[in-house]
Amino acid sequence: MANIAITGAGRGIGFELARQYVETGDTVYALCRDPAKADGLQKMASDHQNLKIVEMDVGSDASVKAAVSGISPASIDVLYNVAGIIGPYEAELESSDWDAWDEVLNILLKAPLRVLQAVLPLMPSGSKVMTLTSQLGASTWPYGGLYAYSAAKAGLNRLMRSVSIDLKDRGVVVGLIHPGYVQTDMGGPGAEITPAESASGIRSITANWSIDDTGEFLKWNGGKHAW
Ligand SMILES: NC(=O)c1ccc[n+]([C@@H]2O[C@H](COP(=O)([O-])OP(=O)(O)OC[C@H]3O[C@@H](n4cnc5c(N)ncnc54)[C@H](OP(=O)(O)O)[C@@H]3O)[C@@H](O)[C@H]2O)c1
Repeated sequence: MANIAITGAGRGIGFELARQYVETGDTVYALCRDPAKADGLQKMASDHQNLKIVEMDVGSDASVKAAVSGISPASIDVLYNVAGIIGPYEAELESSDWDAWDEVLNILLKAPLRVLQAVLPLMPSGSKVMTLTSQLGASTWPYGGLYAYSAAKAGLNRLMRSVSIDLKDRGVVVGLIHPGYVQTDMGGPGAEITPAESASGIRSITANWSIDDTGEFLKWNGGKHAW
């Protein structure tokens, strides 16, 4: 059985990943910003001792370090960077809310590296860090708007490609996953797939991801995503 750490596990795709791994018997460290408000996780934890709920605000260095020191000395086999926010939506051709940009860049771009830095000492050769990115981060995606989100995800893709090169000798696998257009608070009810379908696909491609594929950008259902 594996040890799985998931950021943003209180709701959405992160919650569904936690639920599915818990059901298969793996030990899940469900990292969430406010455990008291994570009703679904609390209910699951009452029935499953293999679910550990850990407070972590991925936007805060202190919170990330405190959370990881709390789960030490367990090793982590898979780290999922899932936590995310959407930020400003419309085209910003005249003005921008720069504080909102800073928040998006902190949560979507800096936080996955911040969390990885904290967890890496617990990650042996063969472990995996899987980061949820988006098709909006691909230069080929033909839509405007969502400037901060798209820019952050594009930067995240490039960042994790670099990280994959620097971790290859240590045997730590790095993956970038577009989770699909998913019916969560972020994707909305009109999105194309359910969180269960997305999480199931993500788990499947993660299980098959080897060091030979490190740094790749895949879709939730297995195909390569254009950069
Ligand atoms: N849904 C889609 O269609 C879609 C498509 C492409 C990519 N993605 C990506 O997939 C990931 C998950 O998206 P989702 O649809 O599940 O989103 P969601 O339903 O809106 O959930 C977002 C999650 O991120 C957490 N989060 C936000 N800020 C945080 C912080 N500072 N510290 C810790 N956790 C924080 C939230 O926790 P709180 O409850 O505390 O706010 C929540 O658990 C994101 O990275 C997103 O960009 C989603």
